Amino acid sequence: MSTNIQAIRGMNDIPPDEIAYWQLIEDAARRVLDSYGFREIRMPVVEKTELFKRSIGEVTDIVEKEMYTFSDRRGDSLTLRPEATASMVRAGVQHKLFEQVQRLWCTGPMFRYERPQKGRYRQFHQLDVEIFGLPGAEADAELILILCRLWAELGMTGLELQINTLGTKDVQAAYRHTLVRYFEQHKDSLDEDSTRRLTTNPLRILDSKNPDMQSLIEAAPKLVDELDDISATHFEALKNILRAAGVNHSVNPRLVRGLDYYTHTVFEWVTTDLGSQGAVCGGGRYDGLVEEIGGRATPATGFALGIERLVELLKVRGIAPPDTLPDAYMVALGDRACTGTPALAESLRDALPGLRLVVDAGVANIKKKMRAADRSGARYALLVGDDELDNQVTTVKSLRDSGEQQTLNQADLVTLLNAGLCER
Ligand code: HAM
Repeated sequence: MSTNIQAIRGMNDIPPDEIAYWQLIEDAARRVLDSYGFREIRMPVVEKTELFKRSIGEVTDIVEKEMYTFSDRRGDSLTLRPEATASMVRAGVQHKLFEQVQRLWCTGPMFRYERPQKGRYRQFHQLDVEIFGLPGAEADAELILILCRLWAELGMTGLELQINTLGTKDVQAAYRHTLVRYFEQHKDSLDEDSTRRLTTNPLRILDSKNPDMQSLIEAAPKLVDELDDISATHFEALKNILRAAGVNHSVNPRLVRGLDYYTHTVFEWVTTDLGSQGAVCGGGRYDGLVEEIGGRATPATGFALGIERLVELLKVRGIAPPDTLPDAYMVALGDRACTGTPALAESLRDALPGLRLVVDAGVANIKKKMRAADRSGARYALLVGDDELDNQVTTVKSLRDSGEQQTLNQADLVTLLNAGLCER
């Protein structure tokens, strides 16, 4: 026998028993986003490598260490997308979407070559939501309010909102100088990565996960102390809107995010209930990116939510999706019934939109069929033999309680199944 082929490390199947959690999140997100006037967009999972280098930044963990990059047969350098923002910007510029305000979302797999552990995978899924064309803090706040509504729809509690500002690109340039001065004074304490970043991208030293670097980073000058009026006003406006809307938040001056494109607002929703991978959602404003990718200057803001982490948190909180078990399992008993049951099942589906009905019409022994009916989790077994066919009735056996059996004509069967549908 040949050996089994396993999935790639860090890339997971989502088995059918799990899928209801995903659909719960996806359905709620779709409903909420719809109610704010967002439209879905879909992009390819592979893009030219250059796109991510230019947008996320050459000197970031994602671009330096985590991208799945390969040459295609022509020798072009392609990359499996590590995130969706860059692709959405590319698509918007390409299709001239940004001539008007756009509220867009997408969902799908992203790829990062990180060390897999609980909550951190090499293929993971994001719900990505972006607003293009609105420069004000109201747009940043709208995204946060969308997330508050999504948490409420899901019954999700205990997520903490942290916000910060990275200011304009000018503020960031000035802060870069301050940081370089500071870290140069402590050159001996820098690790190899940080020493390199000191000349290439000093802001990214703040991302270092090296425990030995943390006290140095903690004592580093804060960007918030160098904000100009424009940046401070934007941040104040955001905080005022959140306060007026009753959204609890804390300012975390150390929140810098791991991607280079941000300006002004950044935010994350975090929890301590998922171990070390506690960031469920992250985002912020990126006013320079559309121009960077070749479009007309367009302010933009967005977030991405990690679906695997939110699924895990639903489980931790004991929030179960509604079951997707069949309402009824139809069993054909005998040759003539095998021929007749598919038509009977169609008439039930016509009468009861939304009915979940599984048909077991093949020839097999009755015991086996009843076992399959039980295993399906259906509420009722609908038994159809020759007698039932001739008399246009169905024998109904309840599978979830006492197992009582009754014979019903079509109208009464529809009434019974409909009552079950109403209860579900
Ligand atoms: P990000 O913080 O890199 O931001 O990712 C957003 C979320 O994706 C994280 O908070 C986390 O829940 C999830 N995530 C990231 N990496 C992994 C992983 N390896 N395994 C499982 N989940 C993961 C972005 O991607 C930006 N594009 C967000 C954004 C949109 N900013 C503006 N617009």
